[in-house]
Amino acid sequence: MMKFKLKNLLLAGLAMTVMTGCHWDMWNQDRYEPLEKGDFFGEGETSSRMLVTGVVPYQDARLDTHYYQGRNADETFAAELPADIKLTKELLLRGQNQYDIFCTPCHGYQGLGDGMIVQRGFPAPPSYTDQRLLEMPIGYFFDVMTNGFGRMYSYKTRITVEDRWAIAAYTRALQLSQNATPDLLTQELVDIVSDPEKVDAFNTEALGGSEATHGDSGTTSKEGH
Ligand code: HEC
Repeated sequence: MMKFKLKNLLLAGLAMTVMTGCHWDMWNQDRYEPLEKGDFFGEGETSSRMLVTGVVPYQDARLDTHYYQGRNADETFAAELPADIKLTKELLLRGQNQYDIFCTPCHGYQGLGDGMIVQRGFPAPPSYTDQRLLEMPIGYFFDVMTNGFGRMYSYKTRITVEDRWAIAAYTRALQLSQNATPDLLTQELVDIVSDPEKVDAFNTEALGGSEATHGDSGTTSKEGH
Protein backbone atom coordinates (compact mmCIF):
# COMPACT_ATOMS: atom_id res chain seq x y z
CA MET A 1 0.00 0.00 0.00
CA MET A 2 1.30 3.44 -0.95
CA LYS A 3 1.81 5.96 1.78
CA PHE A 4 1.26 9.67 1.07
CA LYS A 5 3.54 11.97 2.91
CA LEU A 6 2.36 15.47 3.71
CA LYS A 7 4.97 16.91 1.34
CA ASN A 8 3.63 14.81 -1.57
CA LEU A 9 0.07 15.84 -0.83
CA LEU A 10 1.05 19.52 -0.90
CA LEU A 11 2.87 19.01 -4.19
CA ALA A 12 -0.16 17.32 -5.73
CA GLY A 13 -2.42 20.18 -4.54
CA LEU A 14 -0.07 22.75 -6.04
CA ALA A 15 0.04 20.86 -9.35
CA MET A 16 -3.74 20.78 -9.58
CA THR A 17 -4.04 24.51 -8.89
CA VAL A 18 -1.52 25.31 -11.62
CA MET A 19 -3.17 22.99 -14.14
CA THR A 20 -6.70 24.35 -13.71
CA GLY A 21 -5.28 27.85 -14.12
CA CYS A 22 -4.39 27.00 -17.73
CA HIS A 23 -7.98 27.72 -18.86
CA TRP A 24 -8.06 31.45 -18.29
CA ASP A 25 -7.05 32.44 -21.81
CA MET A 26 -9.94 30.34 -23.23
CA TRP A 27 -12.48 31.70 -20.79
CA ASN A 28 -11.59 35.34 -21.21
CA GLN A 29 -11.61 35.47 -24.98
CA ASP A 30 -13.27 38.35 -26.84
CA ARG A 31 -16.98 37.93 -27.38
CA TYR A 32 -20.19 39.92 -27.81
CA GLU A 33 -23.14 39.84 -25.42
CA PRO A 34 -26.51 39.23 -27.13
CA LEU A 35 -27.70 42.45 -28.82
CA GLU A 36 -24.50 44.26 -27.79
CA LYS A 37 -23.48 47.11 -30.03
CA GLY A 38 -20.97 45.58 -32.42
CA ASP A 39 -20.79 44.19 -35.90
CA PHE A 40 -20.34 40.47 -35.63
CA PHE A 41 -22.01 39.58 -38.92
CA GLY A 42 -20.77 42.63 -40.79
CA GLU A 43 -24.29 43.68 -41.59
CA GLY A 44 -25.35 46.18 -38.99
CA GLU A 45 -24.79 47.71 -35.64
CA THR A 46 -25.56 44.83 -33.34
CA SER A 47 -23.94 41.53 -32.55
CA SER A 48 -27.26 39.76 -33.25
CA ARG A 49 -28.47 39.02 -36.73
CA MET A 50 -31.25 41.38 -37.90
CA LEU A 51 -34.33 40.39 -39.88
CA VAL A 52 -33.78 40.58 -43.61
CA THR A 53 -35.18 43.83 -45.01
CA GLY A 54 -38.80 43.47 -46.10
CA VAL A 55 -39.67 40.59 -43.78
CA VAL A 56 -43.41 40.41 -43.05
CA PRO A 57 -44.68 38.44 -40.03
CA TYR A 58 -46.47 35.31 -41.19
CA GLN A 59 -49.04 35.48 -38.38
CA ASP A 60 -49.94 37.74 -35.49
CA ALA A 61 -48.76 40.98 -37.10
CA ARG A 62 -50.98 43.05 -34.75
CA LEU A 63 -51.13 45.99 -37.12
CA ASP A 64 -54.52 47.14 -35.82
CA THR A 65 -53.35 49.68 -33.23
CA HIS A 66 -56.91 50.41 -32.11
CA TYR A 67 -57.65 46.76 -31.29
CA TYR A 68 -54.24 45.81 -29.87
CA GLN A 69 -53.10 49.05 -28.22
CA GLY A 70 -56.25 51.10 -27.69
CA ARG A 71 -54.69 53.89 -29.73
CA ASN A 72 -55.60 55.79 -32.88
CA ALA A 73 -53.18 56.06 -35.77
CA ASP A 74 -51.85 59.34 -34.32
CA GLU A 75 -51.04 57.55 -31.00
CA THR A 76 -53.84 59.27 -29.03
CA PHE A 77 -56.11 56.99 -27.01
CA ALA A 78 -59.15 55.70 -28.85
CA ALA A 79 -62.47 57.03 -27.60
CA GLU A 80 -64.53 54.13 -28.99
CA LEU A 81 -64.49 50.35 -28.86
CA PRO A 82 -62.68 48.80 -31.85
CA ALA A 83 -64.91 47.78 -34.76
CA ASP A 84 -64.49 44.07 -33.93
CA ILE A 85 -65.86 44.49 -30.41
CA LYS A 86 -69.63 44.94 -30.29
CA LEU A 87 -71.20 46.63 -27.29
CA THR A 88 -73.70 44.02 -26.17
CA LYS A 89 -75.12 42.83 -22.87
CA GLU A 90 -72.92 39.70 -23.23
CA LEU A 91 -69.80 41.87 -23.55
CA LEU A 92 -70.65 43.78 -20.37
CA LEU A 93 -71.44 40.59 -18.45
CA ARG A 94 -68.16 39.07 -19.61
CA GLY A 95 -66.43 42.29 -18.55
CA GLN A 96 -68.09 42.10 -15.15
CA ASN A 97 -67.02 38.47 -14.77
CA GLN A 98 -63.38 39.22 -15.64
CA TYR A 99 -63.30 42.46 -13.63
CA ASP A 100 -64.65 40.65 -10.59
CA ILE A 101 -61.91 38.03 -10.94
CA PHE A 102 -58.89 40.18 -11.73
CA CYS A 103 -59.50 43.73 -10.56
CA THR A 104 -61.73 43.69 -7.47
CA PRO A 105 -58.97 42.63 -5.03
CA CYS A 106 -57.63 46.17 -5.35
CA HIS A 107 -60.27 48.26 -7.11
CA GLY A 108 -63.34 46.89 -5.29
CA TYR A 109 -66.62 45.78 -6.80
CA GLN A 110 -67.68 49.35 -7.56
CA GLY A 111 -64.27 50.58 -8.73
CA LEU A 112 -63.85 52.89 -5.76
CA GLY A 113 -60.30 51.69 -5.04
CA ASP A 114 -61.24 49.98 -1.76
CA GLY A 115 -60.67 46.29 -2.57
CA MET A 116 -59.83 43.73 0.08
CA ILE A 117 -56.04 43.86 -0.22
CA VAL A 118 -56.18 47.65 -0.09
CA GLN A 119 -58.08 47.29 3.18
CA ARG A 120 -55.16 45.10 4.26
CA GLY A 121 -52.59 47.78 3.46
CA PHE A 122 -51.84 47.71 -0.30
CA PRO A 123 -51.56 51.23 -1.81
CA ALA A 124 -55.04 52.39 -2.84
CA PRO A 125 -55.73 52.93 -6.54
CA PRO A 126 -57.73 56.02 -7.51
CA SER A 127 -61.51 55.66 -7.78
CA TYR A 128 -62.86 55.16 -11.31
CA THR A 129 -65.23 58.02 -10.52
CA ASP A 130 -62.40 60.55 -10.14
CA GLN A 131 -63.08 63.34 -12.60
CA ARG A 132 -59.75 62.66 -14.33
CA LEU A 133 -60.65 59.02 -14.99
CA LEU A 134 -64.24 59.86 -15.99
CA GLU A 135 -62.76 61.98 -18.76
CA MET A 136 -60.25 59.37 -19.98
CA PRO A 137 -61.03 57.73 -23.35
CA ILE A 138 -61.85 54.02 -23.19
CA GLY A 139 -58.55 53.17 -24.93
CA TYR A 140 -56.74 54.47 -21.84
CA PHE A 141 -58.28 51.75 -19.65
CA PHE A 142 -57.25 49.14 -22.20
CA ASP A 143 -53.73 50.57 -22.12
CA VAL A 144 -53.49 50.50 -18.30
CA MET A 145 -54.47 46.82 -18.29
CA THR A 146 -52.07 46.04 -21.14
CA ASN A 147 -48.99 47.88 -19.94
CA GLY A 148 -49.62 48.35 -16.24
CA PHE A 149 -49.54 51.74 -14.53
CA GLY A 150 -47.26 52.87 -11.70
CA ARG A 151 -47.52 50.26 -8.97
CA MET A 152 -50.09 48.24 -10.90
CA TYR A 153 -48.63 45.44 -12.97
CA SER A 154 -49.59 44.50 -16.52
CA TYR A 155 -52.40 42.05 -17.26
CA LYS A 156 -51.27 41.46 -20.84
CA THR A 157 -50.34 37.84 -20.25
CA ARG A 158 -53.30 37.00 -18.04
CA ILE A 159 -56.29 38.60 -19.79
CA THR A 160 -56.93 38.21 -23.53
CA VAL A 161 -57.22 41.28 -25.76
CA GLU A 162 -60.96 40.70 -26.17
CA ASP A 163 -61.52 40.37 -22.43
CA ARG A 164 -59.49 43.51 -21.76
CA TRP A 165 -61.95 45.38 -23.99
CA ALA A 166 -64.85 43.74 -22.17
CA ILE A 167 -63.42 44.96 -18.86
CA ALA A 168 -62.85 48.44 -20.29
CA ALA A 169 -66.51 48.54 -21.39
CA TYR A 170 -67.63 47.35 -17.97
CA THR A 171 -65.45 50.04 -16.35
CA ARG A 172 -67.57 52.59 -18.20
CA ALA A 173 -70.69 50.92 -16.79
CA LEU A 174 -69.22 51.18 -13.26
CA GLN A 175 -68.44 54.85 -13.81
CA LEU A 176 -71.96 55.50 -15.03
CA SER A 177 -73.49 53.52 -12.17
CA GLN A 178 -71.98 55.92 -9.62
CA ASN A 179 -73.11 59.00 -11.52
CA ALA A 180 -76.46 57.88 -12.91
CA THR A 181 -79.55 60.02 -12.48
CA PRO A 182 -83.03 58.43 -12.26
CA ASP A 183 -84.08 59.85 -15.62
CA LEU A 184 -81.58 57.50 -17.30
CA LEU A 185 -83.69 54.52 -16.15
CA THR A 186 -86.79 53.17 -17.82
CA GLN A 187 -89.90 52.94 -15.62
CA GLU A 188 -89.41 49.16 -15.56
CA LEU A 189 -85.90 49.56 -14.07
CA VAL A 190 -87.11 52.18 -11.56
CA ASP A 191 -89.69 49.61 -10.34
CA ILE A 192 -86.93 47.01 -10.00
CA VAL A 193 -84.42 49.16 -8.09
CA SER A 194 -87.05 50.28 -5.60
CA ASP A 195 -87.69 46.68 -4.51
CA PRO A 196 -84.70 44.70 -3.09
CA GLU A 197 -86.31 41.35 -3.94
CA LYS A 198 -86.72 42.34 -7.56
CA VAL A 199 -83.08 43.52 -7.61
CA ASP A 200 -81.94 40.05 -6.48
CA ALA A 201 -84.07 38.35 -9.10
CA PHE A 202 -82.82 40.74 -11.78
CA ASN A 203 -79.16 40.15 -10.85
CA THR A 204 -79.65 36.39 -10.80
CA GLU A 205 -81.10 36.52 -14.29
CA ALA A 206 -78.41 38.90 -15.53
CA LEU A 207 -75.71 36.51 -14.33
CA GLY A 208 -77.22 33.81 -16.48
CA GLY A 209 -78.95 32.04 -13.60
CA SER A 210 -75.59 30.63 -12.44
CA GLU A 211 -76.08 32.22 -9.03
CA ALA A 212 -79.28 30.28 -8.51
CA THR A 213 -77.42 27.08 -7.67
CA HIS A 214 -75.29 28.85 -5.06
CA GLY A 215 -78.12 30.68 -3.35
CA ASP A 216 -77.61 34.44 -3.57
CA SER A 217 -74.09 34.47 -2.16
CA GLY A 218 -72.79 36.33 -5.20
CA THR A 219 -75.11 39.26 -4.73
CA THR A 220 -74.82 39.46 -0.96
CA SER A 221 -71.02 39.55 -1.02
CA LYS A 222 -71.20 42.53 -3.34
CA GLU A 223 -73.68 44.32 -1.14
CA GLY A 224 -71.00 44.40 1.55
CA HIS A 225 -69.02 46.96 -0.48
C1 HEC B 1 -52.80 44.37 -7.01
C2 HEC B 1 -53.72 45.47 -7.01
C3 HEC B 1 -54.35 45.86 -8.33
C4 HEC B 1 -55.05 45.07 -9.18
C5 HEC B 1 -55.39 43.60 -9.04
C6 HEC B 1 -55.47 45.94 -10.27
N1 HEC B 1 -55.03 47.21 -10.06
FE1 HEC B 1 -55.43 48.83 -11.20
N2 HEC B 1 -54.31 49.99 -9.96
C7 HEC B 1 -53.70 49.55 -8.81
C8 HEC B 1 -52.96 50.64 -8.20
C9 HEC B 1 -52.15 50.57 -6.89
C10 HEC B 1 -53.15 51.76 -9.04
C11 HEC B 1 -52.51 53.13 -8.88
C12 HEC B 1 -51.09 52.97 -9.40
C13 HEC B 1 -50.23 54.18 -9.20
O1 HEC B 1 -50.74 55.31 -9.21
O2 HEC B 1 -49.01 53.97 -9.04
C14 HEC B 1 -54.03 51.32 -10.12
C15 HEC B 1 -54.48 52.14 -11.13
C16 HEC B 1 -55.42 51.77 -12.07
C17 HEC B 1 -56.06 52.67 -13.00
C18 HEC B 1 -55.91 54.19 -13.01
C19 HEC B 1 -54.69 54.68 -13.72
C20 HEC B 1 -54.59 56.19 -13.52
O3 HEC B 1 -54.49 56.91 -14.54
O4 HEC B 1 -54.59 56.66 -12.36
C21 HEC B 1 -56.90 51.92 -13.79
C22 HEC B 1 -57.78 52.42 -14.91
C23 HEC B 1 -56.77 50.55 -13.36
N3 HEC B 1 -55.87 50.51 -12.31
C24 HEC B 1 -57.45 49.50 -13.90
C25 HEC B 1 -57.35 48.17 -13.45
C26 HEC B 1 -58.04 47.06 -14.04
C27 HEC B 1 -59.02 47.17 -15.20
C28 HEC B 1 -57.68 45.94 -13.35
C29 HEC B 1 -58.07 44.50 -13.60
C30 HEC B 1 -57.72 43.98 -14.88
C31 HEC B 1 -56.76 46.37 -12.30
N4 HEC B 1 -56.58 47.71 -12.41
C32 HEC B 1 -56.21 45.51 -11.35
C33 HEC B 1 -53.74 48.30 -8.27
C34 HEC B 1 -54.34 47.21 -8.88
